[in-house]
Amino acid sequence: EWTMGNFIDIEVEKIREAVGDRKVLCAMSGGVDSSVTAVLMHRAIGDNLTCIFVDHGLLRKGEGDMVMEQFGEGFNMNIIRVDAKDRFMSKLKGVADPEQKRKIIGNEFIYVFDDEATKLKDVEFLAQGTLYTDIIESGTETATTIKSHHNVGGLPEDMQFKLLEPLNTLFKDEVRALGIELGIPEHLVWRQPFPGPGLGIRILGEITEEKLEIVRESDWILRDEISKAGLDREIWQYFTVLPDIHSVGVMGDYRTYSHTIGIRAVTSIDGMTSEFARIDWDVLERISKRLVNESEQINRVVYDITSKPPATIEWE
Ligand code: XMP
Repeated sequence: EWTMGNFIDIEVEKIREAVGDRKVLCAMSGGVDSSVTAVLMHRAIGDNLTCIFVDHGLLRKGEGDMVMEQFGEGFNMNIIRVDAKDRFMSKLKGVADPEQKRKIIGNEFIYVFDDEATKLKDVEFLAQGTLYTDIIESGTETATTIKSHHNVGGLPEDMQFKLLEPLNTLFKDEVRALGIELGIPEHLVWRQPFPGPGLGIRILGEITEEKLEIVRESDWILRDEISKAGLDREIWQYFTVLPDIHSVGVMGDYRTYSHTIGIRAVTSIDGMTSEFARIDWDVLERISKRLVNESEQINRVVYDITSKPPATIEWE
């Protein structure tokens, strides 16, 4: 009989057989697929696994520390946290075009990863969280970000990795079940998707430190309220967007002229189509009040009521 438990035993055995006592590298993003891959690899080969976690400075609030606590300390895995914020910010300076931002972030990610990988000795394998779905409909961006490490040829000649893709027979729901079986906490296994370019595509136009701060804090408040309302599993993805428009408001006796923040919250099966989430007015009101009260930079909150198509889930 096929169970998740014996899937783990079989996979662990397969990995050990393939790897022996050689060394494996894994790119950790904190997302479900890479986390499950890393924990499974770690179960099989322990300290012969090294994970690289690139912090591009476009992560959500608390994300980097959470990854290190959960996986570095909790699972006792070797994780190298690379603080690459300055590298990314300097490359992104003055860039406003969405596709160009994506390209810069994607490329820089590979350069940073390569730099770190090159410092490690004797690594022969690269483990990736490729799912079955990524293979059949190859080309989803989430999958290609890491795949390109291998394909683009950005790696030095003497660093030809052999690929390990232990999840490549599984669908997303099976990966979540596997994650639970491996002892990954529920809130991580049921995380909403987060795009590779991170908050970088939730600030329309040029990315600046100031705008990052606004979008990061507002996202934090939104997540907190969605979670308090018990909606975090019901809503497929929810986040704030900074359209970089200013509008007039009033605060006490003063006129304000500050940022508008957009809330995007959608229900979906696979991200290909989506509908805006029918969030209760009271919940939206609480979110709106907190956003305006807790950020001096925000004086207006709007809710995105478009489905996909015609709109995309992200604004960029
Ligand atoms: P859209 O905005 O295209 O998003 O409706 C569909 C899903 O894909 C995510 N997304 C990305 N993921 N790199 C990623 O890894 C990207 O460049 C990217 N753009 C969008 C988005 O968050 C949603 O879950």
